[in-house]
Amino acid sequence: MFEKQVYVERRLKLRKKIKSGLVLLLGNTESPMNYRSNTYRFRQDSNFLYFFGLDLPGLVGVIDIEGGKDYLYGNDFDIDDIIWMGPQPTLKELGEKVGVLSTHSLKELSGTLQRAIRQGQKIYILPPYRAENILLLEQLLGINTSMVKNYASVELIKAIVSLRSVKEEVEIAEIEKACAVGYQMQVTAMKMSKSGINEQAIAGAIEGVAISQGYMPSFPIILSQNGETLHNHDHSQVLTSGRMLLVDCGAEINSHYASDFTRTIPVDGKFSDRQKDIYNIVLAANNKAIEMAKPGIPYFDVHKAAAKVIAEGLINLGLIKGNSDEAVANGAHALFFPHGLGHMMGLDVHDMEDLGENYVGYDDEISRADQFGIAYLRLGRKLQRGFVLTVEPGIYFIPALIQKWKSEKINEAFINYAAVENYIGFGGIRIEDDILITDNGSKILGKRIPVTVAEIEEMMKR
Ligand code: GLY
Ligand code: MN
Ligand code: MN
Repeated sequence: MFEKQVYVERRLKLRKKIKSGLVLLLGNTESPMNYRSNTYRFRQDSNFLYFFGLDLPGLVGVIDIEGGKDYLYGNDFDIDDIIWMGPQPTLKELGEKVGVLSTHSLKELSGTLQRAIRQGQKIYILPPYRAENILLLEQLLGINTSMVKNYASVELIKAIVSLRSVKEEVEIAEIEKACAVGYQMQVTAMKMSKSGINEQAIAGAIEGVAISQGYMPSFPIILSQNGETLHNHDHSQVLTSGRMLLVDCGAEINSHYASDFTRTIPVDGKFSDRQKDIYNIVLAANNKAIEMAKPGIPYFDVHKAAAKVIAEGLINLGLIKGNSDEAVANGAHALFFPHGLGHMMGLDVHDMEDLGENYVGYDDEISRADQFGIAYLRLGRKLQRGFVLTVEPGIYFIPALIQKWKSEKINEAFINYAAVENYIGFGGIRIEDDILITDNGSKILGKRIPVTVAEIEEMMKR
């Protein structure tokens, strides 16, 4: 965790953005896997972490806007806990670490909130995503579970998004550490890949790279020769010569900052000419996007520019017909690139997604498109200095999508279906990097993972 002043200042900044009332930030509780005491690895709520820093279950933070005070609610450990868990800090000691001097037991929380409500004070809550916290909000505020989400405060969501979107220096340093682990994970996959080895062996080894340092993957690892399935968590195949392996992974370090990288590599370390042709189009789109990213440019426009690079490349290969601007305007490229160019990254790998993608990635100026493909873009608004985001273009040959478009004659004027069908079985290629928006451009975070054909083949040489 950071110095206490970091949390004090963040809460002060939040106070300035909210008019009055109480901000209620629920930490997470332990989550049972198969019985109560056999739990999943504990993951604290990111908003609680951001403002209260404490990485323990069963805590609640309250920021009293007019009263100018912050409160921490939780239960002190008793002797039974200490027998099983060893010596533990008191709630008061925990509060002091993050500059909160007023600490109370959890059973006092309900009374405090009820009193505030009686006095006509507003209670600001965020949209809960865990069942335990939905139930707790029902208990605390008397709102039926089915309605709790509707009571989330847009004012609070927007205030938090505005703070968390712009990363502080201390946060960037943590993200750099997460990127260093992501580098190790990707390079381990490159070194292990060869025909005959199981996908699962590589997936397990790269997860182990994170876990052996006390960290964890920032999301379930995507690793498959069927890279055309965008989020493929099936690792059951044996690596086969001539195919490619798509590896999308990152680390979440103990401060919970994340990294998120994708590389697509030839199983036996040498790209075929056909693979190189597609790979270099994706790489050109990735380069173009990184080059364009700077304060003031809408990421929506960067997405479209990357789509245009992809369309032009596919026109050169005879898979798309006609003019690239028209093809992109009609969404023809989305047959091959059916997802968004990237998303914010920070304490969550898809940063702040719990607060609502449209609040994080869009604003009054730029709203989400409804065209297939670009509709999945998580971040469309203008970039600002201090944003950290991913750049992850791809080209995929998805048999079911190709068949659907062909049979429904979608974008027939732009797609050369006869040529495209020759690529069924090719798989998919994605290249993903993490960037920081600087004063006048962008910076790739972490040591650059081998990315050109030559660099990857060199790294995979035995
Ligand atoms: N790791 C999933 C993604 O790249 O968004
Ligand atoms: Mn990824
Ligand atoms: Mn990503």
